[in-house]
Formats: sequence, structure tokens, C-alpha cells
Amino acid sequence: RRVLVLNGPNLGRLGSREPEKYGTTTFAELVGVCEKTGAELGLDVEIRQTDDEAELVGWLHEAADGRIPVVLNPAAFTHYSYSLRDAIAQRTAPLIEIHLTNPATREEFRHTSVVAGVATGTIAGFGLDSYRLALRALTSLES
Ligand code: DQA
Repeated sequence: RRVLVLNGPNLGRLGSREPEKYGTTTFAELVGVCEKTGAELGLDVEIRQTDDEAELVGWLHEAADGRIPVVLNPAAFTHYSYSLRDAIAQRTAPLIEIHLTNPATREEFRHTSVVAGVATGTIAGFGLDSYRLALRALTSLES
């Protein structure tokens, strides 16, 4: 089963980006973790990252048209992107919102997720395990 793991702005800089908050694992290593977890679960996982809202919206349209399940870390778009929310609302398969950190414990502006209300569910605060847990959750939803 094909799955898209989509990542929003600044996540390509994992490893060097605020390591005290996001850890020292690089984005390339995160890709490896998702591929390995996917292989273990029998999923064909494709991982992408963009800093561009329009590109992310386009990928969500692709997922909607192809009935492809999605694991999405919308990064800062989480908190203000209504176009992302509207794209997710068109989904035709499960979509799990994930975060490395727990935004509820951070600055006030991170307490709002405009995408949570159209996601299947949310997993936040477990670092790289947020990705592993989301892929596992997708396999349970699908079976
Ligand atoms: C994040 C949390 C967001 O608030 C932040 O803007 C990010 C990363 C996370 O994975 O913890 O870029 O989505």
C-alpha cells in the first residue's frame, strides 16, 4: 500500500535547526527511519518535504485523487494555513497530522491547529516516533 509522508517548511533543516527542540537527527535520517518503518509494515512509503505552501497543497490534491493515505507534518502551516486545511478536507483516505514536538506545551500561537479538525487524528510530541506511530496507525486503520 502506497503512503505519502509529507513535510512542511523548515523540516528539511532538521539536524541543524534548533537542535534543543527538534533533536540532532537530520532530515535524511528521518527519511531512512520512515522507509525502514514502512518496509517493516509492508507499506510503500514516499517521503517529501517542501517550504512552499502551493507545492504542499498540490501534493494533497494528488493524494486525494489517488486515494493515497498521508502522514503530514505541516510544520508552521499547521497554525495558519487555511488553504492547507481546505486541501486536506478533500482527502479520500486517512490523513494523520503529526508533530515532532508537542505544540500544546509551546508558544501560544502553536496551540491552534487549523488542520486538526479535518485530519483523521493527530500524534504530537514523540520526536521521530511520531512518524513511526503514525505509519503504524495507518496500517491499523487500513486493515
Ligand atoms: C512542528 C511544530 C510546529 O509548531 C513548527 O512550526 C514546526 C515543527 C513539529 O514537528 O514539532 O516547524 O510541526
